[in-house]
Amino acid sequence: MDDKIRAYIQQTKKQLRSQQDVTAAFSIIQEQTRRDVEEIRELAERGRAVIPQVSYHNVASGNVSQGLREEIRSRGAVIVRGVFPRQQVEDWNAELGAYIAQNDYLKKAEEKAGLDKYFSALQSGRPQIFGLYWSKPQVMARQAESMARTKQFLNHLWDVAGPMGDEFDPDQDYSYADRTRRREPGDKTLGLSPHMDSGSYERWLDPAYQRIYGAIFNGAGQGYDPWKATFRTQTREFSSPAVCSMFRTFQGWTALTAQGPNDGTLSLIPSTRGIGYFLLRALQDDVPDDDLCGAEPGRALSAKPQWHGDILEGLVSIPLVEPGDTVWWHPDIIHSVADHHQGIEFANVIYIGASPKCAKNEAYIHKQAAHFLAGKSAPDFAAEDYEVDFKDRATLNDLTDLGRIQMGL
Ligand SMILES: [Fe+2]
Repeated sequence: MDDKIRAYIQQTKKQLRSQQDVTAAFSIIQEQTRRDVEEIRELAERGRAVIPQVSYHNVASGNVSQGLREEIRSRGAVIVRGVFPRQQVEDWNAELGAYIAQNDYLKKAEEKAGLDKYFSALQSGRPQIFGLYWSKPQVMARQAESMARTKQFLNHLWDVAGPMGDEFDPDQDYSYADRTRRREPGDKTLGLSPHMDSGSYERWLDPAYQRIYGAIFNGAGQGYDPWKATFRTQTREFSSPAVCSMFRTFQGWTALTAQGPNDGTLSLIPSTRGIGYFLLRALQDDVPDDDLCGAEPGRALSAKPQWHGDILEGLVSIPLVEPGDTVWWHPDIIHSVADHHQGIEFANVIYIGASPKCAKNEAYIHKQAAHFLAGKSAPDFAAEDYEVDFKDRATLNDLTDLGRIQMGL
């Protein structure tokens, strides 16, 4: 990290620390967080579902109770089951495997190793994530009607109204081309330690983030609403390969295979209050003036036992999900991928988040569309461009009318 950024951090921390008694504010949020974590642990130990779940059928028919919506808002995560039929997804999984094999991906990846630095600071190292964006199964899953309906439901969990008009259009979602994970059973080397995406030091330094988290930074922590969309589409992130420059209402993935606890898959801390703890933790006296508990530009924002012990206790695995189920989490939710895949099946997913129509996302999809047409890696990611000459890559002809709108084409 260069001196200029360190100086910025120092200056911003001084400002933020002057706005309230940060020790007192932290001790309140720490107490709440400990209670939240205790509740999560208790539910998990009794074998109860901590992460709310809903069937796609109920989403599509608008049959989701207010109570369940509130639970999703409180947990910051939800599993939407059965967005795709199992057979469809099993076919996609096989097709993706064939796409990788036929095009000799692994050999080409070895030659290009080292381009993707994003995950290198996470202790567990690089996961089995493939730099592929335009296989037919990925494109089909992104443009599916059921996916659009699911994202619409998720986008509507946000309060979009703001003084300058709606922050985004919850009814129209754009495609964000992301990669795919294929994790072999027995794999021990490739996990991701607990982290948040969508910005690291920006969460303290960026003016839009400062306003999003205004209540937390100004001593009115109780008034903070994680679902208030105002300013969320106006943040600016340090530019780096694989830092998402689209605004996502939810990160998410679609399961291509069955996976659950012990299968080297996703764990998360299901509490939208954790962000208050995280932000105020970095402003405490025991953290050096030019440091934000290790937040680094262009990297994921790590949660570390040294600083964030209270919340890390709340990390729970997702329950068993089946092919065609989808998992979603709010951009401020801490998540990880287990170090050891102890199951017997591949744990495969296609990353598909929700990224609604707004000026920020519109600017990105036009860049993305050009990369799609050329078969290049999506613009947010390392320019590995594997698929430029891949056989069976999706092209313009594979897009439905909805798919074209979502791609800005
Ligand atoms: Fe992540």
